[in-house]
Amino acid sequence: MVVSGDVTFKGKSFGYSQALNFFENTWLKNNGARNRFISCPGNHDKCNGGFDEFDKFLYGIRRDHKFDFSKNSNSILEFDGVVFLALNSSFHLKHEYGLIDLDALKECINKSGIIRKPNIKIAVLHHHLIGAQEDDISTIRNSLPLISLLDDLSFDLILHGHRHSQMSIYVGKNKMQVISTRSLNFDSSRLVNGMNLISYENGDWFSKSMMLSEDNSMVDGLTFR
Ligand SMILES: [Fe+2]
Repeated sequence: MVVSGDVTFKGKSFGYSQALNFFENTWLKNNGARNRFISCPGNHDKCNGGFDEFDKFLYGIRRDHKFDFSKNSNSILEFDGVVFLALNSSFHLKHEYGLIDLDALKECINKSGIIRKPNIKIAVLHHHLIGAQEDDISTIRNSLPLISLLDDLSFDLILHGHRHSQMSIYVGKNKMQVISTRSLNFDSSRLVNGMNLISYENGDWFSKSMMLSEDNSMVDGLTFR
C-alpha cells in the first residue's frame, strides 16, 4: 500500500486520526502487513510547522520508525527484493510548490548499500515531476536533477500524488515509468476519487484505475469498482 501524501487537509491533525482509522479498517483488518505500508508527506501534511503528526500517523500503522520525516527528507527501505525510496517533496515547508532535498538524497544514497543492488526500485513522492497546466505552479522545481539521479541508479518506477488525475509517462534513458496516484476523499465532482492497482508483468508496469465514486455525495456508501 503506497500513500503518496496529503493524508490530512491543510495540516489539520484530526485528519490523521481519520486516516489511521480508515487504514486500520481497510488495510490492517484485511491482513495488510504493517511493514508494507509506504508513505511520504504532501503539502497538506505540514502540521504545527512540521511532520511530527505525519510520523505519528505512520507509526500508528507500521509500528516502527523506518520513516522519520520530521528529521529526514527521505527514507530507503527494502523488502522482498523491492527497494522503496520515499521522498518528502514538502521538506522545505512551502506549500506552493514541490522541491527535492537533493543534497540529503545524495548523502543518503552514498550511505545506503541497498540502493545500488540490482533490485526493483520504486520512488514515492508527493508532487508531480512535470507540469501539465498553465496555472499550476506546484510542480517539483528541481525535477531534472532528480530524474537524472534516479535514472543513473536504474530506478524502475516513480509514484506521485498531488494532481488527483491520471498521468503516466516515461522518462530517462532507462524509460522509468512515472505514474500518478488517485485521491480517496477529494472534494470534487470529477472522476478523481479512487485507487490505482499497480502490477508488474514482463518488465512493464500497469496501472489499473479503481474508481471510488463519481462525486463525494455518498462516499461512505460506495465501494471500489
Ligand atoms: Fe498536494
